[in-house]
Amino acid sequence: MKTFTVISFFAVLTWGVNPSVLRQFETVTPALAINEYDFRPVDVCWESLNCSIDQIEAMSITDRLEFMKYMGTRRLGPLKCNEQFGALEGVLTFFIRKDLATRGTWLSIVNAAAVEAVQRGAAISLGLSKETGDNPGTMKWVDYFTQRKAGRLTSRAGHDLAWAAAEQAAIDHGIRRADTAPGIPKPSGRILRWQQFTRIYRTTMQYRRTILWLIRTAFSFSTPSIAVTAEAFMDWVTDVTDATSSGFLADIAWNLSIIGLSSGEDPAADSEAIMKIATEFWEAFQQKDQPWADANECRATARHDVE
Ligand SMILES: *[C@@H]1O[C@H](CO)[C@@H](O)[C@H](O)[C@H]1NC(C)=O
Ligand SMILES: *[C@@H]1O[C@H](CO)[C@@H](O)[C@H](O)[C@H]1NC(C)=O
Repeated sequence: MKTFTVISFFAVLTWGVNPSVLRQFETVTPALAINEYDFRPVDVCWESLNCSIDQIEAMSITDRLEFMKYMGTRRLGPLKCNEQFGALEGVLTFFIRKDLATRGTWLSIVNAAAVEAVQRGAAISLGLSKETGDNPGTMKWVDYFTQRKAGRLTSRAGHDLAWAAAEQAAIDHGIRRADTAPGIPKPSGRILRWQQFTRIYRTTMQYRRTILWLIRTAFSFSTPSIAVTAEAFMDWVTDVTDATSSGFLADIAWNLSIIGLSSGEDPAADSEAIMKIATEFWEAFQQKDQPWADANECRATARHDVE
């Protein structure tokens, strides 16, 4: 039923997406001159890459975002992974916008586990430590980093599968910790549903090949363009190097997490909810400001000049 949910979601979602809209999104350049940026670690554990989950949980979300950027630009280069955590940065930016995951909350612990796993995985891969923090995500990231360093995981299907599996393992660990942490208030239904929505995202990444194949098969006779669009759309939303797409998705998921899915027991109700989600998503997608559309035009013009 999970696969059904994901496939219907993407089928409906891509129904009306116009490829030219997607091309505009592709030109978003988050090219910050961050290499020269002067990072101010809030804790010495940043540099030794040995922050515990509690130390990370004690950091504000702004500091965690800074920590992720620090790791990306200063530490993950040798592992060929400096751009691999845009999706996490996008989610952290979303938390800042919505003032979510503040210290001592359920969501903050879940997020801290995700950051911890990346950091500990990096430390082990760089030969700085052997500490996993008992976080099952850590060794999955180690495997991921090892493969990336060896020049593997270059196809989207293999890459997305490994990335999403590592991230999901860390998140699941975070959820177990948050559920059992003493004195932490239970999350609201809306937060739980938002978290569930992000799982759909990672499931989509893991079943990428199957989903694309099913969509292609389903639409190849009636409307082949939908299959092409589906792939372009999936490429964009699940691009882990792009903080804009994950931040945008997180926002929409937040708006939509008012609606619940039945977690599989009621496909008819789920289809209805998915349809509503897709319709709203599409409307939000179209209404979104597209300041880069102008930049895109400039570039097209410049190219003409050269020719
Ligand atoms: C983290 O590493 C630093 C520097 O190597 C060390 O001083 C510190 O004790 C370590 N912290 C933990 C919790 O292992
Ligand atoms: C989410 O809802 C708010 C309030 O209704 C709205 O202003 C905002 O544009 C919505 N965001 C997205 C991404 O749809």
